[in-house]
Amino acid sequence: MKAALITGASAGLGLEFTRQIARQFPEIEEFWLIARRIGKLEELAQQMPEKKFVCIGLDLTDERSFRFLSDKLEEQKPDVRLLVGNAGCGIAGDVADTAQSALMRVVDLNVRALTLVTAAVIPYMSAGAKIIHISSIAGFCPTPRMTVYSASKAYVSAFSGGLSEELRPKGISVTAVCPGPMKTEFFEEVGDKNLFGNLPWCDPEQVVSGALRAAKKGRLFYTPTRFYKFYRFVAKLLPMKLMMKATHV
Ligand SMILES: NC(=O)c1ccc[n+]([C@@H]2O[C@H](COP(=O)([O-])OP(=O)(O)OC[C@H]3O[C@@H](n4cnc5c(N)ncnc54)[C@H](OP(=O)(O)O)[C@@H]3O)[C@@H](O)[C@H]2O)c1
Repeated sequence: MKAALITGASAGLGLEFTRQIARQFPEIEEFWLIARRIGKLEELAQQMPEKKFVCIGLDLTDERSFRFLSDKLEEQKPDVRLLVGNAGCGIAGDVADTAQSALMRVVDLNVRALTLVTAAVIPYMSAGAKIIHISSIAGFCPTPRMTVYSASKAYVSAFSGGLSEELRPKGISVTAVCPGPMKTEFFEEVGDKNLFGNLPWCDPEQVVSGALRAAKKGRLFYTPTRFYKFYRFVAKLLPMKLMMKATHV
């Protein structure tokens, strides 16, 4: 059965991806949705009775989740046409002032879980399938006070780049999406709504539609809005030391 697998589908960008994929990819028959709040996933499934859903309540920072997912994939053998590695979280504050468990939650979810979910799903993908990973503008250069988050997103972008070359012979594309700040539950967790000062907000609906367009074209990177495209360009040109001064939040 042709399937899309989306992590972090209970809110924000992941929820929007599920809705837009359902509209834009009629060939997708089944949605595998992953998040901790399974109730939210089931609510979303009820809004689309014409589609099939596999709602999986998993904490992706928990080691046991990957065995569970691998077993389920092995049992049902879906034909995954789209994988959206979206579940992620952030943290603000100096590393030295932050609990180690909070730092590791960011690494475990943004880096470890994204890597292991992708590795678990690739065997169920074939030519023409697409992987979308959610990175961030924070991955363009180190962002002091969001040091671990920005490093985790630099990993997502680099991982996506290497993977896209590895999967090219198989005809599977990889797209890393690098949005600026968006008004989602993300900032409730980060706990600092003013973190990005006057930086322009991105609209999740537009981010998702742009990301799907980029994935259809097989683009490796998608950065929404001219402002952040320019920021990406500048971050490539300027020395890291100078960029870090500018991004110190
Ligand atoms: N919002 C922004 O400003 C912004 C900017 C750039 C990039 N991003 C990236 O965009 C992606 C989506 O974030 P968002 O803005 O949509 O945030 P969000 O509204 O907080 O959504 C995060 C999603 O991840 C899931 N999640 C969180 N912890 C999880 C865990 N331990 N196990 C499984 N699922 C978990 C959440 O579901 P449950 O709580 O139900 O588990 C939720 O569905 C993230 O990778 C984020 O880094 C966000």
